Amino acid sequence: MDMTSESSSPGDPPRIVAPSILASDYAAFGAEAADAESAGGDWLHLDVMDGHFVDNISFGPGVVQALRPVTRLFFDVHLMISRPDRYWRRFAEAGADGITVHVEADHDVSATLKAIRSAGLKAGLALNPATAWEAALPHLQEVDLILCMTVVPGFGGQAFMREVLPKIRAAAEARREGGLGYHIEVDGGIDESTAREVTAAGANVLVAGTTIFKADDRHAMIKALRQV
Ligand code: DX5
Ligand code: ZN
Repeated sequence: MDMTSESSSPGDPPRIVAPSILASDYAAFGAEAADAESAGGDWLHLDVMDGHFVDNISFGPGVVQALRPVTRLFFDVHLMISRPDRYWRRFAEAGADGITVHVEADHDVSATLKAIRSAGLKAGLALNPATAWEAALPHLQEVDLILCMTVVPGFGGQAFMREVLPKIRAAAEARREGGLGYHIEVDGGIDESTAREVTAAGANVLVAGTTIFKADDRHAMIKALRQV
C-alpha cells in the first residue's frame, strides 16, 4: 500500500494522520477501523502491548488479521513488546504494512529492521521519551520511519511531553543532512495544539487516538490535524 498522502507543498514530506485504534470502541473494532478510513485517516495505527515492555496488554496478530479485510488503510503496527524479533513476522503475515520496533527492546535492532525490510514491509524505529536521539544514529539507513514517543508508552489519553521536541528537531536535521527519506512520526497526546508544535519541529506523521476517536466529528478532526 502507498506510504504517501497529500503534501502540503512540493518537497515537503507528506503529512499523514494515523488514527490509533487503541482509543476506539473495543466492542466494535471492525466498524471503528472502517470508520477511521471513511473519516479520512491515512494510516491505521495499531498498538501492540505485551504487559512486559509496557504496563498494559492490548491485542495480538489475530486482531490485526481480523481487521485487515475491513479497510485498505496502511497498517502501521507499533510493537511495544520486549521481543519484537520473535513476533514481528506474525504481524506481517496478519497484514501489517509497516512495523515499528523499539530501540529499548531486547533484540538485535539492526537485524530486526533489516529482516522487516527484506520481507517487503516498511521498518520503523521507536524511541521512548527518555531515550536520547543518539540511540537512533546507527540505524538511520535502516529505517523508513522514526517514531518519537511523546508520552511514556502504555496508555492512550496521556499528556503530551514537550521535552521531546528537541529530539524531533534532531531527527529532522539528520534527515536533511543525510539526504534521507524516513518519516518522522509522533505518538501520544497529539491534538490540534500539540500537532502545531510537532510539525513545526519536523514531524510529518501524526498518531492520534483520543483526539480522533472521541471527537464529535472525526472527519473534521482528521482534516484539521492534516492542515495544521
Ligand atoms: C501509547 C500508544 C499510542 C496511543 C496514543 O502507548 O502508543 O499510540 O494510542 O493515544 P493518545 O493519542 O490518546 O495519546
Ligand atoms: Zn503507538
